[in-house]
Amino acid sequence: MHPTIIVASNLTKRYGETVVVDGIDFEVGQGECFGFLGPNGAGKSTTMRMIMGLTPRDGGRLEVFGRDVVPEDSVLAAQMGIVPQDNNLDVDLEVGENLDVYCRYFGLSAREREEKIEQLLAFAQLSDRRYTPVTKLSGGMMRRLVIARALVAQPKMVILDEPTTGLDPQARHLIWQRLAKLRETGVTLLLTTHYMEEAARLCDRLLILNRGCILDQGSPEDLISRHVEPEVLEIWNRDGMPSLEDFADLPGRKEQVGDTLTIHGFQLETVRQLVVQRAGYACLLRPANLEDVFLRLTGHDLREGL
Ligand SMILES: Nc1ncnc2c1ncn2[C@@H]1O[C@H](COP(=O)(O)OP(=O)(O)OP(=O)(O)O)[C@@H](O)[C@H]1O
Ligand SMILES: [Mg+2]
Repeated sequence: MHPTIIVASNLTKRYGETVVVDGIDFEVGQGECFGFLGPNGAGKSTTMRMIMGLTPRDGGRLEVFGRDVVPEDSVLAAQMGIVPQDNNLDVDLEVGENLDVYCRYFGLSAREREEKIEQLLAFAQLSDRRYTPVTKLSGGMMRRLVIARALVAQPKMVILDEPTTGLDPQARHLIWQRLAKLRETGVTLLLTTHYMEEAARLCDRLLILNRGCILDQGSPEDLISRHVEPEVLEIWNRDGMPSLEDFADLPGRKEQVGDTLTIHGFQLETVRQLVVQRAGYACLLRPANLEDVFLRLTGHDLREGL
């Protein structure tokens, strides 16, 4: 077991009367990739911001690298690379200058800065954009620059709030590759994401939050085996939604997800063949994944805040 570097116990945050993080407990080990999942407004960013020391907690215990987290702790700040949900780049500056500002902040000499900027631009595949104004970058390039900037001080832990939201598949894959590379060097990663494939691919362990409370935590495989059956048959129909009644005679747990009806169960191949025989429907048999867990635990309704 790796040494524990984050301990949160009964961690609580309120805004006015509203409890947005409701006494949660979790621990993160050194070198782990730990992910927070949850619908919009679940409290993921608030939790990350408390760990970053940017939002003060209202209750409970929170220790990072053995230190009680208090705002503006420069010792902690130097060990954490931060990728906030919104890109907070300096839009008046060029790409290289954005990195340079951080290098100066951390007291690097002119030669160290030059080396670091080149190395980080290469890491982020932005070497040819060094003199481009930030406003001329694409969304994916900006995200890569924010990640590169988080690495200036060679942090032991990098905290990424939705690192790949809004990026195209190529940009997302590049960021996954870079994050995997970072992990290989022993850096602890903390991330939030709405992409279940990203969570499954990158994270050793996940915590699912809903309305400020933990629904469950564990490895992606554990969560899948704990909460859903191993196979899913998706059924859809071009003219509208398949209804539960149309398939009431078939075995398995059924759910309606948007325009798709899903049947969850064990060894569903025979059920798939029965569906194929029914005119007008298309179907796909696949292994259960984290998205099935997420939807089962957090429900199917759209969330807007608490
Ligand atoms: N500064 C603030 N003042 C008041 N309420 C806030 C503030 N920041 C967050 N909240 C509220 O706290 C709750 C949790 O917000 P948070 O940003 O942590 O959610 P999230 O899980 O990161 O959601 P998303 O997936 O949309 O990013 C929401 O209801 C939000 O409106
Ligand atoms: Mg958020």
